[in-house]
Amino acid sequence: MSFLSEVKNISEILQAFHDTTLQGDVPVINQAPMQDILDDLNPVQWLNHGGLQAEELNGFVHRYLKYATRLHHPGYMGHQCAPVHPAGAVGALIDAYANTVMGIYEMGPGATTLEWVMVNWMLKHIGWLPQNLNKNSESNVTAAGVFVNGGSMANLLALIVIRKQAVPDIWNHGNPGNLALMVPDESHYSISKSAGILGIGQQAIYTVPTDQDGKVIPSKLEAVLQQLIDDGKQPLALTANACCTSVGTHDPLHKLADFCEKHQLWLHVDGAHGASALISGKYRTQLAGIERADSIIWDAHKMLKTPSLCAALLVKQKHHLETAMHHEASYLFHEKQQPGIDFIHRTIECTKSALASKLFFVLAAEGESIMAKYIEHQYQLATKAYDYINTQPDFVCAVTPESNILCFRHLSDDATQLSTRAELLMQKKFYITTVRFKGKQYLRLVFMNENSHLDDVVCLIETIRKIVGTFQ
Ligand SMILES: Cc1ncc(COP(=O)(O)O)c(C=O)c1O
Repeated sequence: MSFLSEVKNISEILQAFHDTTLQGDVPVINQAPMQDILDDLNPVQWLNHGGLQAEELNGFVHRYLKYATRLHHPGYMGHQCAPVHPAGAVGALIDAYANTVMGIYEMGPGATTLEWVMVNWMLKHIGWLPQNLNKNSESNVTAAGVFVNGGSMANLLALIVIRKQAVPDIWNHGNPGNLALMVPDESHYSISKSAGILGIGQQAIYTVPTDQDGKVIPSKLEAVLQQLIDDGKQPLALTANACCTSVGTHDPLHKLADFCEKHQLWLHVDGAHGASALISGKYRTQLAGIERADSIIWDAHKMLKTPSLCAALLVKQKHHLETAMHHEASYLFHEKQQPGIDFIHRTIECTKSALASKLFFVLAAEGESIMAKYIEHQYQLATKAYDYINTQPDFVCAVTPESNILCFRHLSDDATQLSTRAELLMQKKFYITTVRFKGKQYLRLVFMNENSHLDDVVCLIETIRKIVGTFQ
């Protein structure tokens, strides 16, 4: 059987998977015990004997998909992973089969070109000066970017860039040992993880307090910086959230930018989740001031319907990104004439996959204005759900939502919120998450797909009520 007929069969299976998911009467999640999955799929047998093709392959894929979490399911309100647009999956398939690796232009001219276009698309939405094919037309405020494998990697790369600017000879001499970061207490853990990876150390994280909505309190910044300096540390940057992972609220970026300008401090904005709202005329005001940042991360695999992973690090001044790391490998780096650019200088990876192509295929199919409407719909659904839950006497919301993330709790103790979620997962009708916010346990909804409606939220609340009733 040819490759293309395999693809045709698999695409029919995927279509059926998609159609049944939309109806919502199949489980949204199937956390079967791993031993049961091993018995069902028998992967070791296939590894030993081969032959997983044609009919056997179809059967295997059917069984494999039983254990997939259904992101297009009306009851999916779980983690920030996109229910993908099929065009993104097609793009991924094309790149996977052609193996359009890039990094150096000569290996993937088409993929490099699409990444260059998608970086510029993001830069345009931020309001930064895009890269120009004619280097002579670029100024020292030309921005740049690169796609990497996820928001955590993008934050890590951002810290590499920031550290190099603060300590120009770091590449040879290593960390001076007194570097420190100012990080809001609602930040994603990948920021402090990156500090750990880079040897800056967890103790060098100076936590910036946030208010009851999870937003940085600007008046507290001076004291945090002063403490850091009194401790003999060198501040590398202030990081900001747009929006934060827990409750989806946005830091006041203009005020943080004012502070950073005053102290000549690098401002890094984690827009992994929220930056996609830049394409919405209605919601881009949430990110007012983002253009004053020095670096930004933006994940397309969260709010832009793009298959994982597809995240960008964007830097206001191109040379900061291009000079952050040193590379020596004569088989890659040498004098050459070529009709395009290499991305390899900007990344940790050597072989680099065509991440931005997936976003390109999605946007090219959907069109930007429909994508903007999708984002607006998800944000509005969070507000409608908030209005509904807020009127229920036995529930309370954590904050007024500013994005598509909504946290609430039943008026009972923390343990009940956790056991309620566990029971919901057992019932397999809804997939939601939990989060600790300001010392309390909340149930957390992230409205990711177009198939969830207010009715589903109403049904979820009734289901939770019943579950809690069985505990009493
Ligand atoms: C604000 C924020 N930053 C970074 C990340 C990490 O992104 P990824 O899961 O793609 O590594 C997340 C993920 O939830 C996030 O919400």
